[in-house]
Amino acid sequence: MAQSQVPVGASGADEAHISAHWKEEEYYDPPKQFVEQANLNDPRVAEKFGEKNFPKCYEEYADMLTWFERWHTVLDSSEPPFWKWFVGGKLNVCYNCVDRHLAKYKNKAALIFVPEPEEDSIVAITYQELYNRVNEVAAMLREFAGLKAGDRVTIHMPMIPELPITMLACARLGVVHSVVFGGFSGEACGLRAADSGSKVLIYADSYYRSGKLIDHKMLSEIAVQTAEREGQAIEKVLIWRRFPGKFNSASPMVQGRDYFVDEALKMFRGRKIDPVHMDSLAPLFLMYTSGTTGKPKGCQHSSGGYLAYAAGTSRYIQDIHPTDVYWCMADIGWITGHSYIVYGPLALAATSVIFEGVPNFPDAGRPWRIAERLDVNIFHTSPTAVRMLRKAGPDEPKKYHYHFKHMTTVGEPIEPEVWRWYYSEVGKREAVIVDTWWQTETGGFLCSTKPALDPMKPGSAGPGVPGIYPVILDEMAKEIPAGAGRAGNICIRNPWPGIMQTIWGDPQRFVRQYYQKYCKNPESKDWRDWPYFAGDGALLAKDGYFRILGRVDDVINVAGHRLGTKEIESACLTVAEVAEAAVVPVVDEIKGRMPEVYIALKPGTSTPPGEVRDKVVHTIETMIGKIARPKTVRIVPDMPKTRSGKIMRRVLAAISNNMNTGDITTLANPDIVEQIRVAVQGEGPVATREGPEDVKTFGSVE
Ligand code: PRX
Repeated sequence: MAQSQVPVGASGADEAHISAHWKEEEYYDPPKQFVEQANLNDPRVAEKFGEKNFPKCYEEYADMLTWFERWHTVLDSSEPPFWKWFVGGKLNVCYNCVDRHLAKYKNKAALIFVPEPEEDSIVAITYQELYNRVNEVAAMLREFAGLKAGDRVTIHMPMIPELPITMLACARLGVVHSVVFGGFSGEACGLRAADSGSKVLIYADSYYRSGKLIDHKMLSEIAVQTAEREGQAIEKVLIWRRFPGKFNSASPMVQGRDYFVDEALKMFRGRKIDPVHMDSLAPLFLMYTSGTTGKPKGCQHSSGGYLAYAAGTSRYIQDIHPTDVYWCMADIGWITGHSYIVYGPLALAATSVIFEGVPNFPDAGRPWRIAERLDVNIFHTSPTAVRMLRKAGPDEPKKYHYHFKHMTTVGEPIEPEVWRWYYSEVGKREAVIVDTWWQTETGGFLCSTKPALDPMKPGSAGPGVPGIYPVILDEMAKEIPAGAGRAGNICIRNPWPGIMQTIWGDPQRFVRQYYQKYCKNPESKDWRDWPYFAGDGALLAKDGYFRILGRVDDVINVAGHRLGTKEIESACLTVAEVAEAAVVPVVDEIKGRMPEVYIALKPGTSTPPGEVRDKVVHTIETMIGKIARPKTVRIVPDMPKTRSGKIMRRVLAAISNNMNTGDITTLANPDIVEQIRVAVQGEGPVATREGPEDVKTFGSVE
């Protein structure tokens, strides 16, 4: 293990840009046993995927798939930044994830479902059975729900195997699925359904969470109403029952609209549906994510490029072999679940574990009991889950006899000390760790160490993965070199197959949000003129490793998932008493960041403050979901504003995080800052603390 403790940015102006406590961490070498069996162990990979071989290098990923017709052009960049990968190719994503494995693996588990109640049996679904079930569901979607290639369908389901089965059935037909995270509200689902133009919603009636059977079907009623209010009629709502034949919801079935899937499926027993030959460029799915302006955007992902990228990175970075038992403890309702529970692993004929419950129920030993029982050897989760498990049961992993060869952390920066616990306690010093940095928009990993080839460094994602050429640019579009000790905006210089195709229904916003900032020449057809702007701040160390600092826009990363502050603010403004609202990130020990809400009330409001606060929390939960629940709601007499009337969220973020508010003399109402500061931080002296980079720069890019 190499040791280096070089302080970064030790002096002068640089210091303002980086956290004060910043230091270089030590390296850890990948365990020998891992290296010996790794899929990617050829050090020439960097050269093979280097710029000289771009874009041809990506043929290697496309060749991991089975194509009905081979592509004629690897990358068509004639209409930047709308990159087209594997043009002319025809394939079916479901065929690649299911059918083609039958010859060799039909009797092998494709999915292993672990229900939350520990006394309930674990269910293994073989590739043969997955094939049967996906075909029956595809038949039902086509003939009962009337769906065909190109139609969109919104799926609002929890972590049960019927979710990937439904997704694969859509893919079989070329139907574009839009999965909404189960923890989002009915209203959030309805808005997404309307934006995507879905006329069919797919729900589950209920699921287990923290020991309770949650009524989920209830949300479908609100989703339908919301979609209709937005001008989108919902013709059918298909309801999977958690226990077939037994309905667990207080919400009544609406005749002629709501149908039980287990009943509808009776007509399609044993039916087989030919996989539709889809164009490589045909959209496979939409995944909505938060951006800088209020409305969530539907990231549209392709069939050929996306699957090739998910499969290639699953093989090389996740090191998945068909013999592995792979468990990604994320939710399929997020991009991580799409790429690294469903599509990537299944394209490689892996065994992928699906866990219904939460990690710390009934206790913090649950994940390790599951790992022991299933003999999981690849484990994938978020820093939030690691922090939570470390806090609730630091000694739990020791009690169980499992052995991981590989572990992933994803979704937010991981603190080095948390990384070290993950490494030594969860991984028992036997597993390699990859810290994978990427986004909903990017389809798959962007930065990570190559697990058998690069040493690990706690808190750093690592270099660009094969074929990804990241760069850090300052506000003047000047490159910040490695080892400069200055943070800037991380960008990707080149296109890659997993990049989203566009924002559904809003191509202009796609260009504006990701490419406009650093485009060197809007007329150019050369990809080199179109760096991708990720919206994250990062630092590049001398060794070529990127350390991701967090968002530079007004998006808050809560427990590894993005929430738009504007969405939360809009929700607050629907409360009758609220005149103004500002949402800022506040550091949270477990979740990384949480939203904190500031509101100013309309003059003459007589509602007691406690009641207004409750109303605000309730409204946020109903309009967005519990995931957006604020840590605190603070009522203030007025917002700090610039002379032009813009709310200074950065100042509020500094106050919430006990940081120095910086220069406020140019504000229209500097006095209000002191009033709010005293109300939040108390009468003590003004804080001098420097905070985390994303909080310091919060809201500076719009
Ligand atoms: O800020 C980065 C953070 O999560 C954002 C992407 O969120 P989302 O689209 O929900 O996708 C999450 C799963 C890929 C990024 O812009 N992020 C993601 N991975 C990391 C990270 N921050 C630091 N380290 C990571 N490994």
